[in-house]
Formats: sequence, structure tokens, C-alpha cells
Amino acid sequence: MRTDTPQAIYRKDYTPPSYWVNTVEMGFDLDPDLTRVATRMTLSRNIGSRGKSLVLYGESLELVQLRMNGKEVGKRGYTLGNGVLEIFNVPAEVTLDIETALRPNQNTSLMGLYTSNGNFFTQCEAEGFRKITFFPDRPDVMATYKVMLRADKDKYPVLLSNGNLIEEGDLGDGRHYAVWEDPFKKPSYLFALVAGQLVCQEETYKLQSGREVLLQVWVEEGNLDKTQHAMDSLKNSIRWDEERFGLELDLDRFMIVAVGDFNMGAMENKGLNIFNTKFVLANPRIATDADYAGIESVVGHEYFHNWTGNRVTCRDWFQLSLKEGLTVFRDQEFSADLIGTDSGRAVKRIEDVRVLRQAQFPEDAGPMAHPVRPDSYVEINNFYTVTIYEKGSEVVRMYQTLLGRDGFRKGMDLYFQRHDGQAVTCDDFRAAMADAGGRDLSQFELWYSQAGTPRVKVETRYDEVAQSYMITLTQSCPPTPGQPNKLPFHIPVAVGLLDSGGRDMPLVLDSVEGGDDRSVAPTTMVLELTEPSQTFHFRNVREEPVPSVLRNFSAPVILDIEYTDAQLAFLMANDSDAFNRWEAGQRLAMRRMLALTEAVKNGEALDRNADENALGAAFRATLTDNALDPAFCELALTLPSESVVAEQMDVVHPQAIHQVRRFLRRALASALRFQWEVAYQSNRTPGAYSPDPVSAGKRGLKNLALSYIVELDDGDAHKLAQSQYDNANNMTDRIAALSALVNSNAPGKDAALASFYEDFKQEALVVDKWFSLQAMARHTDVAAVRELMNHPAFSLRNPNRARSLIFSFCNGNPAQFHAPDGSGYEFWADQVIALNTINPQVAARLARSLDRWRKYAPELQDRMRAALQRVAATKSLSKDVHEVISKSLA
Ligand code: ARG
Ligand code: ZN
Repeated sequence: MRTDTPQAIYRKDYTPPSYWVNTVEMGFDLDPDLTRVATRMTLSRNIGSRGKSLVLYGESLELVQLRMNGKEVGKRGYTLGNGVLEIFNVPAEVTLDIETALRPNQNTSLMGLYTSNGNFFTQCEAEGFRKITFFPDRPDVMATYKVMLRADKDKYPVLLSNGNLIEEGDLGDGRHYAVWEDPFKKPSYLFALVAGQLVCQEETYKLQSGREVLLQVWVEEGNLDKTQHAMDSLKNSIRWDEERFGLELDLDRFMIVAVGDFNMGAMENKGLNIFNTKFVLANPRIATDADYAGIESVVGHEYFHNWTGNRVTCRDWFQLSLKEGLTVFRDQEFSADLIGTDSGRAVKRIEDVRVLRQAQFPEDAGPMAHPVRPDSYVEINNFYTVTIYEKGSEVVRMYQTLLGRDGFRKGMDLYFQRHDGQAVTCDDFRAAMADAGGRDLSQFELWYSQAGTPRVKVETRYDEVAQSYMITLTQSCPPTPGQPNKLPFHIPVAVGLLDSGGRDMPLVLDSVEGGDDRSVAPTTMVLELTEPSQTFHFRNVREEPVPSVLRNFSAPVILDIEYTDAQLAFLMANDSDAFNRWEAGQRLAMRRMLALTEAVKNGEALDRNADENALGAAFRATLTDNALDPAFCELALTLPSESVVAEQMDVVHPQAIHQVRRFLRRALASALRFQWEVAYQSNRTPGAYSPDPVSAGKRGLKNLALSYIVELDDGDAHKLAQSQYDNANNMTDRIAALSALVNSNAPGKDAALASFYEDFKQEALVVDKWFSLQAMARHTDVAAVRELMNHPAFSLRNPNRARSLIFSFCNGNPAQFHAPDGSGYEFWADQVIALNTINPQVAARLARSLDRWRKYAPELQDRMRAALQRVAATKSLSKDVHEVISKSLA
């Protein structure tokens, strides 16, 4: 907790450390009340640093002893304050011995060393290692680590750390020890230890090179029946990185450990990944298809960090996207490759873009907007954002779009060739791509330095006489905090042209020589937009085409393009690019939703029998097309979410949007009831549950059909949902049925909710689902959420539980959260303030829920500002929350 105003740190101020650390040896005496840590490190002075002091960071620590080359450092030899230990007159080569004491049981921040359900865990990224010992805790300081853990043998039978186990044994007096050595140099944020009562599933796995490695998934006893999917995902990840990028696992042993109290998804500590249980534990009884997919991608993500993050790491935290954007890109490609089919890849792409639009576009348009490589931060933990991760991934994807898959691979190879074992920058990555591809990518740098979502406007002209077609692309980017004016980006825009039969036309650009040979003309072309405005001329265009622009979402931009309803329906039915087929349907739906929302705002009644013609016809065509992949259908038949619609409006009216979305869903349900019933019946997946993409896709469409049918809220619909609930043999079907019931007026809904809790109260992850489902249900108001907080199973201390109820309500139930009386905002402020003292990181995430307060009607704005100001005025606000709130109010 601070007392002063937190200071920003600037990228331009980066200076190399005055000392490098070569080796680190640590001894832990683990005790939940008071753990002692003895650290010995050898350091060498950096060139040009003569006369400079040695700066070590430490937080919430007691300094027990400090020795330099064996001699106690006197009071005049150092200063200690504000989390900095500065030592003076340090020789060029030095051995430092530091002893610290800390209190894991009292550590509710879940950073550094903490306990969870009686076991010890660590989380050191970004700056948690300084809560364990005083250290140059910055990612450019890389050292080798040897760690001895000592603890009570009965209470902590398992002792794990990074690397290889080189020794273990008894200490007498009921205690034992283990020594771990990590042969690879690493920054302190990749340090980890785990100790406690855990069991593992293990397998030996043969790498392509023939070398055998030991794979382990560690969990609490009783969860061993839920580790198989994580283990399979790990093996798939290892194989994929060998095949796609030629990257091999470099350790003899790779461990994943699940912990129930965790701030984020998971952490890539070298050889000892620590995971939120949510991304490890699965069996058909407790996990949904989405959970299975999430586990696969997070296991992949953390594993892929071993090369992109660990072997090559970040010079400083401004470069965070260097590892995160790249690793998200890699996990997205991994999941897509595992599905294997073209339509499966498209489905994955659509899902990823949905996340980007739902979460990153709003961030990029709000007060916390920041570049993929930020220029400053107050609290680095606030920068583990969708911009760093998801937009960062889009930036990496654009290299692949510009250079081709082979060119991208060459760039990756060069990146590792140049930088293995180093801590580097986003510029180094871009240079590797540019040099390997023989391309000038200097303008591309703007994707890293400029925040905001660019807009690309499309205008077209067909000249029948000349048989030519012109596409004019014009780009702009709105101002963002600290960046009023933007330079033009280098934007790859993939286009295709459809003829009147819906087929792709061969594309011949006027500027391309000898492009007349139609047999080799491509049907998708990447236009490179680098100027504010550019016109591209296509020739030999036999008839006026319908353009398909930004295929596969080739750049993270907003596309302004005018289509008629008929053209959108045509694209939805014919575009060879599945992403744009989906996109056309979403545009059609969005247009209708915005028009209806306008009507509601003007006090017009929505006609219950309105014939949803254009949209209804398009939906009917999709729903009845048996050739379509069910997973694709599910996405195509899902209306844009309330928050995505909100993003399109100048003044957001959450209740109007909610009303319209429901109205449209009902209209589509009643117009297509028979087709929904058919889809429901024909996408059943009888037999044993399997989470494979085909079965999951069928369940997805079936459960979407169920949700539409239950919108009609009649006896037959209720019966269908109730019977699915009663007979489900897997969590996907069970929770879908429960959600349908709870969002209806079905007579059995309360009984179903109660029985669900009884059946699953031993399964923390399912209890999270139970809270979350209620938090997002349409009848749940602020009072009901406050009531749920009194449930014995609720706790603010556990991040998953806090997220399941409070975040789900504030972020996932906009119509209730934005209650006109402001009660939602008061609730929000209460919880931010309560969480602030328990866990600043989690509190700061929740603090982001009022980010876009300036987009609402003035009466709501006033109430939101009051809530923000109440939080701002709170005593001992963490710098995490302080940064978010002050930027929101700025
Ligand atoms: N590097 C981790 C990942 O991407 C995220 C850890 C972030 N943790 C934090 N406390 N900020 O998988
Ligand atoms: Zn990551």
C-alpha cells in the first residue's frame, strides 16, 4: 500500500542494469507463518557502471541479513526504503548473501510466495520475485538457479522447483529437502516453487529426436480423474512446436501444477508451469466443451512460452507483447491446426476475432487505451491486457500475412538464431522478420507504437467498358490518450471479388506485369495499404463484382463498407471465405439491431410479429443448409452480443439493447421454430461424451437451438430444456439446459438450480459456473447478487469465485448492472474497495468495468462518476487500482 502518488515508469528511461547476476543459490525453510529464504548470488559489474550502486528490489520482506563477499554490510553501506535496497561501493565481482523472512499465509495478493489450501505456490511475473528476496527483479537480468527446499515431510511431501531434481532426502526431525537445478539462464519472473500434498499423473514422452522426457500434471488428491486432457494437450503441444516451428523441449522434465487460488490463467515458469485449476481440470461431468478447448489452448500457450518468452525473453516490461502477442498467435495456430479442417480453422478464427472485438476494441477506444508496446505504465500488472495479448497476436499474424507462411517461419528461425538466450525488444523481432523476408517493415513499427483501432473505408467503382474495377481504401485512426494524431499504418487487406454466380473471380491487378494468364491468377489478394488513401485497379473484370474485403480478418481494423441487405445475404450464402460469410451475417444482424434500438430509444413499440425478413431469410438459409459445419452455423446464428452492439452506439442504452436482442431472438425463434427443432434433433450426440471439435460443434448448435426455442417460454420449450437437464451425461448439455431454464419462466428452474448446487458443491469449478450463470441471468438484479454474496460458498478471497459472481454481473449482465438508479455502480465500488485490500490485481481488473463510462447517457454518467470518485477517495488505494481509476477519470 502506498501513501504517495504512484509514479509512472517510461520506456525511454530504460538503462541496462549496473550489475549482472550470474548464479543464484537459494535455500527455503518453508513455513506458512514465517518462511526464511537464504539467497546467495554472484554478480558482475556491467561495463560502464563503475561507481554505480547495486539496486535490488524487495517488497513485504524482512531483511534478516546482508553480506557481501562473506562480510556483513554495515548500516552505512546500504539504504533500504520504498521497496529498493541500494548497496554502495560494490566490487566488480561480488558474492552477495541475503536472508529474508516472509509470511506466506498472510499473502492474499497471490504474488510472490503464498499458500492455497495449505500448499505453497509462487507467482513471480511480473514483479513477484521481489516478495521472496531482494533482487535485481527485472527481465534483462538472467541467471542460473539452484534451489534447496526444506519443509515438514508430512505436510509437504512434494517439493518442486524449476529444472531438474538433483537431490532429495531426510533432514530428521520430520523434515525433508529437495534440490532443484535449472541449467538455463532465466529472469527472476520465471522462478517457481511448489510444496505440499499433491499427486501427479505422469508419462514419459519420446521427442522427434528420440530423446525421452518426463511429463507430469500435479493436482490435489481427488482430482487425478481430471488430468488426462491436460496431459494430452501437453503432448499435442510438444509435437506441434516440433512440426510447425522446429522447436524442441529443452528439459528432461516438464511439470504442470494446478492451483485453486490464482490471479490469472497460468504461468510459464521454466519447466514448472503453474496453472489456475480452471485450465487443467476436466472430465465430462464437470467441464464443458469450452473448458476443454480453453485447457488445450492455455496448456499450449504456456508450453510455447518455453521458446517464445523463456529461451528468448523481454528486455523490459514494455516489450511484454514480444512474448505474449507471439505466444497467443502460436496457441491460436496450434488450436486451429489441431482441428485440421478448413471450416474448423475458420471457426477458430471467428472465435478469436470475436474476443478481439468484444474486449480489445473497447479497450482501444477507452481511457486505458495503450499501444501494443506501451510508452509508460504505473503498475505493470495492469498491462496484461487484451491489447498486449490479442492485438499483439494480430500484429504477429500480419507478419505471416505479409511474408507468407514460409517467410514467417524463416523470420522465426532467424529470431532464434540471433537471440537465443537473450532479453530483447519488439524491434528485434521485427528486424528478424524484415531481414528474413527481405522487406522494409519500418512503417509496420506503427502497429507497436500507436494505440487505437484503425478504420479502413472502402469505396469501389466498376467501369463496364474498360472491364476494370477500382477499390479505394482510406485509413484513419481516432485519437487515444496522449496520441492526438496518427500516422498511416501498413495494413494488409485481403480481398476477393465474387461474380453474380457467387464464384471467386480471378484477380489481376493493373500494376502487375503479365498478369493476364488467368489460369494462375489468385482469387484472394493481399492489398498493402500504406498511404492515407490508395486506389487499386483490377482489370479483366467481366461484370460488376461483390467485393469481399478483409478476408479472414487480415488486419485488426474496423472496416467501413456499404453493402445492401441483398449483398450481405449474397455474401453470407456464397463467399468462399468463411470468415466473411460469418461477417456478412453479423453486419446484417447489427444493422437490424441498431435500427431497432433507435426505435426503442424513440419510445416506439417493437412489433412482436414483425417479419424479420432479410435477417430471417438469411438465418433460415443457414439453418437449413445441411452442408454447413454445425460449429460454423452456431456462430453464424448467434446475434452480436449486447456489448458489441453497445460499441457501435454513440450513446449506449443498455436496457434498449437488451430488449432488442431479446425481441430479435424471439422473432427468429418463432419464425424458425420448426427449423430449430430439426436442428436440435439432428445435432444430438448420443453415446459417450467426447470433446472433439465435431461433437462439440454439434452440441453447440443443438444448445443454441434450445436457447432460441426456450425464448418462446411455452410448456413444450420448458419440457425440452427440463428433459435435457435431467438426462444430460455431460456438463456442456447440463449447463446449457440450466441456463435456458433460468433465463425463462419455467416452473422447474429454482428446483434445477438447487439440485445443480447439491450435485456439484464439492467441485469448486462447477460452483463457479453456478454463481456465474445466476450473475448473468436476465432476472438477476443487484439485490440478488448481494444476496448471493451471502451464500456460504462465496468468497472474495478466491479470484475464480470473485470473478464468477462479481465480474460476471458487472461485465456480463449490462441491462441489470446499468440499473438507472445507479445501484449497480454502488455495488461495483463496494467490491473494488473490498478487493483492493485483499488483492490489488483482481481489484484493478474489476475497476476496469467502468472504463467506458463516458459512452452512456448523462444521468448514468453522473452516477458512474460518483462511484469512480468514491473509489478514488479511498484511503490506501493500491497503485493498481489507483492507475485504473485515475486514468478513467482523466
Ligand atoms: N505470462 C502469463 C501468461 O501469459 C501471465 C502471467 C501474468 N501474471 C501477472 N500477475 N500479471 O500466460
Ligand atoms: Zn503468456
